[in-house]
Amino acid sequence: MRNFLSCKQLSDTQIEALLQRTREYSLSPMVLGGSSLLVGRMVANLFYEASTRTRVSFEVAARRLGMDVVNVSASNSSIEKGENLRDTLETLAAIGVDIAVVRHSQPGVLEQLVAESAPGLQLVNAGDGDNLHPSQALLDAAVLQSAFGKLDGLRLVIAGDIRHSRVAASALELLPRLGVEDIRLVGPKQLLPDAQPENASLMTEDFDAAIAGANAVMMLRIQHERITAPKLPDILQYQQRWGLNTERLQLANADCVVLHPGPVNRGVEISDAVADGSQSLIRQQVAMGVPARMAIFSTLLENTD
Ligand code: CP
Repeated sequence: MRNFLSCKQLSDTQIEALLQRTREYSLSPMVLGGSSLLVGRMVANLFYEASTRTRVSFEVAARRLGMDVVNVSASNSSIEKGENLRDTLETLAAIGVDIAVVRHSQPGVLEQLVAESAPGLQLVNAGDGDNLHPSQALLDAAVLQSAFGKLDGLRLVIAGDIRHSRVAASALELLPRLGVEDIRLVGPKQLLPDAQPENASLMTEDFDAAIAGANAVMMLRIQHERITAPKLPDILQYQQRWGLNTERLQLANADCVVLHPGPVNRGVEISDAVADGSQSLIRQQVAMGVPARMAIFSTLLENTD
């Protein structure tokens, strides 16, 4: 694996190996992560968009593996002076950085860069605009596996701003390949894609109908920063029709779990009672971010094909 840019690029064997390694690291991160192979290897975090969970967990993952980490922010670096992404990456490669973790607002920016000519380091997509967020899909799959064992036959409802969600897009790429059978997309029509994605079984505005029989519900925030011409329902209407509260969660299976990639907008797409309730796996998702990203780094550095 030369780069980690999308789930689509990965073979079934590579996905299974990444998940297996994520499980191992999640059980014993310090022991298994203490591989001397990665001491002296260097990661640069380049976050051109805001992040808490992804940036910090990539950094912690690298440190647990014994790697050195440098953080490059858009402000305070030569990006501010107009340096382009390729030149920034080549500069980091010349300094000795092995892997660049990049979050960027431009969809497909890393795939395009690699297609033109590979930079002198390995790349990880940490979220590119409204396109993809593959490491989030990996950790979400690991959390679902930990909750249910196998993903075969699961019904997952993804609700909220599907149109602008790279998390939903990567979940749709990965989860059906792992056996998730029925992925239902829910939201107001302004926040749904123009056409139902190939891997979704249903796209609807009717949350109450879609949640029936669900094993898992993934809530998404409204991505106001990507909405150019908003004609959204007001907050009260949004909460009532597309928010997840205790009453609505009772329409799902009794053992339904609740996911949210964060950041959470409490009182909008999810109530406090659900976010903090016994069915919520939101904290487990954050925690799984570290072993999942350790698995990505260790795989990248042992195999650069
Ligand atoms: N899930 C996620 O991408 O969160 P951050 O924006 O905080 O990294």
